Amino acid sequence: MRQEISPVASVSGAVNPPGDKSISHRYGMLSALAEGESRLHNYSSGADCHSTLGCVRALGVEVETSGTEVTVKGRGLRGWQAPAEMLDAGNSGSTIRMMAGLLAAQPFVSRIGGDESLSKRPMDRIMRPLGEMGARIAARDGRFPPLEISGGVLKAIDYALPMASAQVKTCVLFGGLFADGETVVRETVRTRDHSEIALREFGADIDVQRGRIAIRGNKSLQARELTVPGDLSSAAFFLVAAMIRPDSHLVLSGVGMNPTRSALLDFLVGAGAEIKVLNLGQASGELVGDLQVRCRVPRGGIIEKELTAALIDEIPVLAVLGAISTQGLVVRDAAELRVKETDRIATVAENFRRMGVQMEVKPDGFEIPGNQKFHAAELDSFGDHRIAMAAAIAALAADGRCVIENAEAASVSYPAFWETLRGITE
Ligand code: S3P
Repeated sequence: MRQEISPVASVSGAVNPPGDKSISHRYGMLSALAEGESRLHNYSSGADCHSTLGCVRALGVEVETSGTEVTVKGRGLRGWQAPAEMLDAGNSGSTIRMMAGLLAAQPFVSRIGGDESLSKRPMDRIMRPLGEMGARIAARDGRFPPLEISGGVLKAIDYALPMASAQVKTCVLFGGLFADGETVVRETVRTRDHSEIALREFGADIDVQRGRIAIRGNKSLQARELTVPGDLSSAAFFLVAAMIRPDSHLVLSGVGMNPTRSALLDFLVGAGAEIKVLNLGQASGELVGDLQVRCRVPRGGIIEKELTAALIDEIPVLAVLGAISTQGLVVRDAAELRVKETDRIATVAENFRRMGVQMEVKPDGFEIPGNQKFHAAELDSFGDHRIAMAAAIAALAADGRCVIENAEAASVSYPAFWETLRGITE
């Protein structure tokens, strides 16, 4: 699908971002292991989170969906059935890596794979700790999907994360749900803690200290009724749109503001945004609020060290902000960007090249000078949802109409993105 985007002077109106992708995955998986029927409200409409539901269905769990309302009839920790076919994680790294922790503990062999992009993403990061726990996992070329997981009894381990990855942390904690004794994960860089919060909500025996998360296995989980907050990473595209178009005024409602995700807001304020948080409250252990955003002059900034991990999903759209800002943007310590749905350093650079925007590419980051102009061009998502949406935001500030090829990729996390964009640009 192609989308044509015309430049606009400003954006205004109200946006309801979809349910958070990270939280939806966790609720989908944990409710399938709980005792009883869970009701999940505002579940992500994105294809990735529906890949997770497809996987748990294939494991014998009854799941009903009606729009963003999902009912899951959990089968308990030991109730999953061997799948008849290969489980399909689609485009979703979260699905394959987190499910792997659960599949490793099942008394059957399962296979899990996905699309072409997923088939190129490294799985050795989860195979190593799951191997230490006693799981046997075979992968294509030793590290790529599809995986063949010969599940069995897992042992508790004490694991120091070698990279900042909430998916790897979650995979080990999920394996730990089934291990005798205490499984510990240590992290030196703090990553999103939705798993810790969700595990507690479902009644797991979990203890969270600074940099050390411990879970005691074999405690049954209880079904819950939970509401997923709006996705701040989806909201990010519109926050940046409001910042790069003068006289814009946007309100985003029901957005998740978990402190392990909200570094984005601090960064945007540092880069010149005026952000008001209204109606701050809690939903199922997660902070939620409404955001009002305006900006006079976007300034840019530096993203490095822990901040890089905290903003990893937002960097493609922050690159757009950087090029327009007065000071530009420097991104360091971001080698992880190269192993996302695409190599996001390369795909951002290619779209910028087509728009005549300068960007100096480094092995683990990039530098973008400020005060640049976006020229109209034919852009591409390269099959990556966040690249599709970042390209659309850049197009709002171009000097003519842009085309975005393979725009359907946005539906991996945000199926209503194009319609929402039209709503705030008319
Ligand atoms: C996610 C963790 C991050 C992030 C991804 C979702 C999660 O990946 O980029 O979009 O839900 O735990 P890594 O764990 O690979 O950093």
